[in-house]
Amino acid sequence: MASIYNGEEITMKPKDRLIFALDVPDKRQALDLVQLLEGEVGLFKLGLELYLAEGPGLLQELVNRVGGDWVFLDLKLYDIPNTLLGPIRTILHGLALFTIPSDLGPAALKKIVSGTVFKVLAVTVLTSTTGDDLKALGFERQYWEDPARLVVRRAVMAKEAGCAGVVCSGREVKAVKEACGPDFLAVCPGIRPEWAAVAGDDQQRIVTPFEAIKNGADYIVVGRPIRTYPESQGGPVAAARRVVEEIAAALDSTN
Ligand code: C5P
Repeated sequence: MASIYNGEEITMKPKDRLIFALDVPDKRQALDLVQLLEGEVGLFKLGLELYLAEGPGLLQELVNRVGGDWVFLDLKLYDIPNTLLGPIRTILHGLALFTIPSDLGPAALKKIVSGTVFKVLAVTVLTSTTGDDLKALGFERQYWEDPARLVVRRAVMAKEAGCAGVVCSGREVKAVKEACGPDFLAVCPGIRPEWAAVAGDDQQRIVTPFEAIKNGADYIVVGRPIRTYPESQGGPVAAARRVVEEIAAALDSTN
């Protein structure tokens, strides 16, 4: 499996492969969750909601607190390269991961990768997107019949453009690794443990933590199944531990 610490000899623990999505509206809630989960998860993912609400100040605070190697900035910014490179350059250097949408196309991906210092992940096809969505968007039949084909096509393009890896669903990760090689990072959201229900869920191409890791995911991204896990059952800490147990079991089963 690949690691974000390319070239460095580090031993990754199962928990290091768990990225927790800090999808909350304000700094206080975010820092409470960081305090609770600091020893339980690997990376913290800061998304659009929190970044728009709190700005770069919170990003800096998070980096100072847990270290840049453990912070993932997931903004999926969408614009022409020239417009994107300005704001991207203002983001502090020393983040672990940063996302851009793969549908910006190969030339834009190349420009952005060469203009940034952190590892860029291309988002292939959102895990909330279905084959029907792709059909409505005008994609060829082969892609809406089997979204994995589009994911792999975009992953190959992202690799050629110099991206460190992709965001894809755990259903497609095996095909991505076959096409792009074991060192090309695969980060998988759309994770739904069998034991955690998410009310009104928007995710579609879902898998369990065990399946995602077993299929070859380097990292899994989990938000609501941890954040909303009932306090009566141990709350977010208990949920994170259950996810890490699944990661460990999947790693054991592949060794
Ligand atoms: O709460 P949940 O586990 O669905 O959170 C998943 C996280 O992963 C969210 O922060 C979402 O923005 C992010 N994500 C995703 N699908 C992608 C890329 C990122 O769900 N393709």
